[in-house]
Amino acid sequence: MPTGNDYFTALGALLRDIGSGTPRMVVDLDRLDDNLGRLLEMHSPESLRFVAKSLPSPQLLQYLSKRTGQQRLMVFHLPFLLQIVAAFPRANVLMGKPMPIAAMRRFYADRVANEFEDTGQLQWLADTKLRLMQFIELARAIGRPVSVSIEIDVGMHRGGLADEDSLAEMLDTIRGHREELRLAGFMGYDAHVPKAPWPHSVAAAAERAKERYGEFLEFAWANYPELEEGEWCVNGAGSPTIAMHGEESPLNDYSLGSALVKPTSFDLPTLQDFEPAAWIAAPVLKRLAGVRIPFIERLPSGGRDTLFIYGGKWMAEPCYPDGLRESPIYGLSSNQQMLTVPSDSDVAVDDYIFLRPMQSEAVMLQFGDLCVVRGNRHIDDWPVFQNAGFPAERIR
Ligand SMILES: Cc1ncc(COP(=O)(O)O)c(C=O)c1O
Repeated sequence: MPTGNDYFTALGALLRDIGSGTPRMVVDLDRLDDNLGRLLEMHSPESLRFVAKSLPSPQLLQYLSKRTGQQRLMVFHLPFLLQIVAAFPRANVLMGKPMPIAAMRRFYADRVANEFEDTGQLQWLADTKLRLMQFIELARAIGRPVSVSIEIDVGMHRGGLADEDSLAEMLDTIRGHREELRLAGFMGYDAHVPKAPWPHSVAAAAERAKERYGEFLEFAWANYPELEEGEWCVNGAGSPTIAMHGEESPLNDYSLGSALVKPTSFDLPTLQDFEPAAWIAAPVLKRLAGVRIPFIERLPSGGRDTLFIYGGKWMAEPCYPDGLRESPIYGLSSNQQMLTVPSDSDVAVDDYIFLRPMQSEAVMLQFGDLCVVRGNRHIDDWPVFQNAGFPAERIR
């Protein structure tokens, strides 16, 4: 599906028709579907877990959940977790980072009372014995066990257990506190792999990460088999490496989000078959002939004109019309960003220009409802997660 001028001309006309009038985050469902299709050629739907921070809209996650027949999510933020429990009472949730114990306590105090069964459906991440000791106290306070996933370091060195001795210490602690703790599984993230610099190779880094994971697992299976009540959730990967986990992977649970909308940071060889599915569309407020920068007005315009757009300074790269550029000299603005275009560009005031987000996390939260399109039709507007604490009575 080419992203040529026709695509953006049609999208721009659509935004004018719906009278958006403000910057929007557009999500193209045809492209999202294609990306999901590619993903499902690699992995079974039951082994996928969608990363909420990278697809931060309950309705977007609902859509993916319907398509895949599962509700398995990775979550990184307490307000999102509270909204997910309210909107997805059947979800299986794995926390993608260790949370402060204060945030965990707030979860139990603020969560909506519904059928979401936290011991069985929510795995908290633990990276140290100290955290496990906090979990034990919390479990006693709430009067039920908490489920734990252990973070292991498979080479990215973002924390997590580094060796078998620390794993043994953690597993001994869990073994000694079966009333309070349940070992649900392991989490090891491998986003360093595609960045392997010379003389290392990406393929070797991927193998090494899988081996590391396998070694931790073997150790746990060999020495603590009684802690496996039901199959352990063996989670890892992410968009950058999802295509590198084949049948030989020790994982049974693959989390990812960004690849489905493919922001520019995910223009990686491992994701070359995926296509961008999210764009920022912003109205042009002003078009001025030439380029005039304060104090250096005499600088030649170089055959370019100036645009000022509604909003700006997003983590995003200009992509349409052809030749659209930021000006490092003029600088960026969140209110009315200056951009330049070739003078023969026919972009006019009230047209929309397009930028491609560098990442979906955080950026997708900056525009209010997602503007959801399919083909050349506006399908719906999907609210994004609220970035605020939510006591249960405020969640609908
Ligand atoms: C633990 C973990 N797993 C998976 C992911 C993958 O998310 P994405 O596919 O959106 O890059 C991340 C992203 O930060 C992560 O931290």
